[in-house]
Amino acid sequence: MIEQAIKGAIRDIPDFPKPGIIFKDITPILKDPELCEGIVDAFVEGLKDTRIDAIAGVESRGFLFGLTLATKLGVPFVPVRKAGKLPHTVKQKVYELEYGTATIELHTDAFKPGDHILIHDDLLATGGTVSAASELIQEMGGKVAGFTFVVGLGFLNGLEKIEPISDKVIVLAN
Ligand code: PRP
Ligand code: MG
Repeated sequence: MIEQAIKGAIRDIPDFPKPGIIFKDITPILKDPELCEGIVDAFVEGLKDTRIDAIAGVESRGFLFGLTLATKLGVPFVPVRKAGKLPHTVKQKVYELEYGTATIELHTDAFKPGDHILIHDDLLATGGTVSAASELIQEMGGKVAGFTFVVGLGFLNGLEKIEPISDKVIVLAN
């Protein structure tokens, strides 16, 4: 039900940002408040037996539903940002991309050691981004409570990468 609504709303943009890539444009979802509410409600339902002390949302599209979900669950939202954006003391993680590397950061006071942190992003592709976020959280003493995504690109095997980290993985549309 929610899966069909999400799939119906996502717009495929061929050859963006590079030739050969089909970009999954989620902006039509954001124009549909009922669907946005349904997405957050589906996450809340799937997480009802999971301890969550904070939600880490990945810049930038992971901020969209990450904060709404955190607010709905009544827990803090902490932004995982690209390098150089967070103003306070940070801890960073460098990770491999297909070509080159990327760096993500968290504020060192984002959460307390032992806290259970749910990682949220809009889309799971290779799983590289959220795996790096997991490593960063674990190095800071956090426990990964699970992962939530609006969309998963099944053919990229991101699930295989993150399932060993936590068995709580919610992907609303594949
Ligand atoms: C996209 C998407 C995820 C990530 C998924 O973000 O929003 O964050 O890629 O890819 P992966 O599973 O292979 O790591 P992007 O880097 O395009 O940036 P944005 O969210 O700022 O648009
Ligand atoms: Mg992103």
